[in-house]
Amino acid sequence: MFQELKNKFLSVCKRRIDTLIDQARVDIFCVETDGLFFDYSKTNIDLETRGKLLELVVNTDVIARRDAMFFGKKINVSENRAVLHTALRKSTGRVFVDGKDVIPAVLKTRARMFDFSDAVQTGKVSGQGGKYTDVVNIGIGGSDLGPAMAYLALKPYTNGPKCHYVSNIDGAHIHDVLADLNPETTLVIVASKTFTTVETLTNAKTAFKWMADSVSEPGAQFVALSSSKEKTAEFGIPNSQVFGFEDWVGGRYSLWGPIGLSLVIAIGKEHFSNFLNGAQSMDEHFQKSEKGQNLPVIMALVGIWHAQICGYSTRAVLPYEQRLSRLPAYLQQLEMESNGKGVGIEGKDLLTKSGPIVWGEPGTNGQHAFYQLIHQGTHVVPCEFMIAKQSHEADLKHHHQLLQANCLAQSQALMSGRNIETARSMTAKLGFMGKELEQQARQRVFEGNRPSTTLVYSKLTPFCLGQIIALYEHRVFVEGVILGINSFDQWGVELGKELATELAPVLDGSNSATNYDLSTQNLVSKLSSE
Ligand code: F6P
Repeated sequence: MFQELKNKFLSVCKRRIDTLIDQARVDIFCVETDGLFFDYSKTNIDLETRGKLLELVVNTDVIARRDAMFFGKKINVSENRAVLHTALRKSTGRVFVDGKDVIPAVLKTRARMFDFSDAVQTGKVSGQGGKYTDVVNIGIGGSDLGPAMAYLALKPYTNGPKCHYVSNIDGAHIHDVLADLNPETTLVIVASKTFTTVETLTNAKTAFKWMADSVSEPGAQFVALSSSKEKTAEFGIPNSQVFGFEDWVGGRYSLWGPIGLSLVIAIGKEHFSNFLNGAQSMDEHFQKSEKGQNLPVIMALVGIWHAQICGYSTRAVLPYEQRLSRLPAYLQQLEMESNGKGVGIEGKDLLTKSGPIVWGEPGTNGQHAFYQLIHQGTHVVPCEFMIAKQSHEADLKHHHQLLQANCLAQSQALMSGRNIETARSMTAKLGFMGKELEQQARQRVFEGNRPSTTLVYSKLTPFCLGQIIALYEHRVFVEGVILGINSFDQWGVELGKELATELAPVLDGSNSATNYDLSTQNLVSKLSSE
């Protein structure tokens, strides 16, 4: 089927997308569910291609694999684990892992998180200098990107202490965050699924020392979020201050449970429950909608068409929503750590390219930075635009209209471009003539025919954010199944960690550098010289 699709692409790649647009296409090439509207009419996918892509879903057993995930089967085979982030957002029902229903423990932990966040918000649980004013979440990767992204996204819903996120082992990060805080009214959350991550433990120890310099019981102002109670105890955080979760929650899928604690403290339990409900509504849509109207399935197929069939190696995520400024970074981990793999689930090389490079920035900022390349560079970058019908700033309606106009203008420009005739007449009006006119006109030509999709949502509420994040999770899942990848392990991050552990004593001079290649030895000597 991949070969058939590739042949199809070769036969249509010169065709202009704008010639495909008619009313029937506009009606068919979209999916709508519960306030989300996804348009993929501005792609080179036609009805025949769409049919073949949908066949991929059948041929690769996406539906059976989806059900296996939701029912707690151990689909993460390389780690022999179930994959149940979807269970973290449930409020009813039963899901079994190794014969045990996991939902009661999920609900119990959620209730503890809610009680704790209520107590922090009201001051019932407080710091040694009074009510908590600030929360510092120390974590990295999935233990940072999710809550940090959602905290920014849901700013209009915050009613608790200010949250800060420290991830980098670069001492500048923790230094600059702590510099502005009062240790007597700061709560530190150490978020690490494994509780072995060197960045997080190093930052946590630094924060502990900072706290110990000012308060008599620094440990009382620390809580931990982890699936390893032994390791949190070793670190000195008592069980009563630990919010635990199971190994069937992957780091980059963990925002829905204890890793979301800082978010619950910031927005309160009602808004957090709405966030979970939004994700659940997407779970239900993914489970119940037929494949041609299934948003995660369709988004995945558009992704496969662009990355594996057309061979476009990157995709840009372009939210026209400043509060989603960390969404591209969050999606980089979600998508690239999940599907950035050249070896399939059965240990054989993939026959196609792995998942694409994901990047982006909010619009309109990106327009004044990298859109030049998107419009006129030699790379084709499929763009995923996102835009809300409504903003939260009712008094700044004109801003939102301009934002919407910019978003639509970009996808239109990418598709239609500007031909040489139009460019010539524009240039002539500027007073250019002859050879110079031609040179100037050529610079103003936009080839167009560049694909994009647009996701329209009603307003960035907690419910809507939950839907969007769950949509991307399931899209990654479907792409992974079609490519034959285990989207839930991450062996590719291990080697660098091992080598860094070996290199640390080389850099402080306690081990010799002679075992390293000459290039690395040279860099060690540059970094170690006075
Ligand atoms: O290095 C990759 C990774 O394992 C991610 O998958 C994970 O989100 C991150 O590190 C942090 O891991 P932990 O939560 O165990 O500290």
